[in-house]
Amino acid sequence: MPLPSPGPDAHVLVTGASSGIGAAIARTLAARGYPTLLVARREEALAELAAELRGLSGLTSEVHAADLGTDEGLDTVRDLVLHDERVIGLVNGAGFGVTGRVAELADDDGRAALDGLVRLNVLALHDLTVAAVGAFVHRARSSRRTGAILNVSSITAFQPLPGVASYAASKAFVQSFSEAVHAELSGTGVTLTTLSPGLTRTGFADAAGTDAFDAAPGLAVGDAEDVAEAGVAAMVAGHRSVVPGLVNQLSAAGGRLAPRTLLLPALNAAMDWFT
Ligand SMILES: NC(=O)c1ccc[n+]([C@@H]2O[C@H](COP(=O)([O-])OP(=O)(O)OC[C@H]3O[C@@H](n4cnc5c(N)ncnc54)[C@H](OP(=O)(O)O)[C@@H]3O)[C@@H](O)[C@H]2O)c1
Repeated sequence: MPLPSPGPDAHVLVTGASSGIGAAIARTLAARGYPTLLVARREEALAELAAELRGLSGLTSEVHAADLGTDEGLDTVRDLVLHDERVIGLVNGAGFGVTGRVAELADDDGRAALDGLVRLNVLALHDLTVAAVGAFVHRARSSRRTGAILNVSSITAFQPLPGVASYAASKAFVQSFSEAVHAELSGTGVTLTTLSPGLTRTGFADAAGTDAFDAAPGLAVGDAEDVAEAGVAAMVAGHRSVVPGLVNQLSAAGGRLAPRTLLLPALNAAMDWFT
């Protein structure tokens, strides 16, 4: 099993743990007996979750407030991944979306928002994944202790998406990079799993500035707890990737297979209600 059995020295570091899918993943890991290191900017929300997890499971949860969009924040968290010997798992959950067509986002504020998106969704995830792969593979060779990584992607990874072009491209990066590294890690004792949720009720819609989740049919919007359960189960088993829910699996398959010449104009028109 790539994620070592739970125990006091088998910690999982979870980024984006202050709300939504990251917080649900931390709860799911705690329910399975894993102590956690919780990372996000909002220290108070992390402290509340840490207290909740201690109450539920009796396990320690450490709070590490950090802005992964800054060099300082990223350095702090990378140091934990590289040097804290208790860390045997990493969940890259932190991420956000920006809605709007690129021409509308070309002013200073819009460009700053898109730059922040790429820094967090792509650069920080890539940096922490590379650090974890290096540390976990080294440890697996020297002490035969396995390790596991879970990267949170999205079903937007499976096709270009007008209206959220930069966000979808950031998740296409996450999906492609993570699946390739999963293959590279074969036989090392370390695994990398990609979790690709569809619309999920979290703080995401507010952060992305859209109320489209309220307008979407109920069946199309999932719960963070179900997404977390699917992601953690796949991580524990060392699977390559998981798309939770039938509607999302159909959407992912459609995105991969549909001809771009037909798909993109249709999505461009459909995304009017999303942005
Ligand atoms: N909800 C969806 O429909 C959906 C669908 C597919 C994929 N996803 C992906 O799921 C992941 C989690 O999103 P969510 O839906 O759970 O949204 P969320 O509730 O808004 O959670 C986002 C998390 O990222 C953290 N974060 C944001 N900026 C950060 C920064 N600069 N440094 C450190 N942490 C930062 C936030 O914490 P702070 O604000 O405290 O920093 C929060 O914990 C994201 O990668 C998202 O792209 C979401």
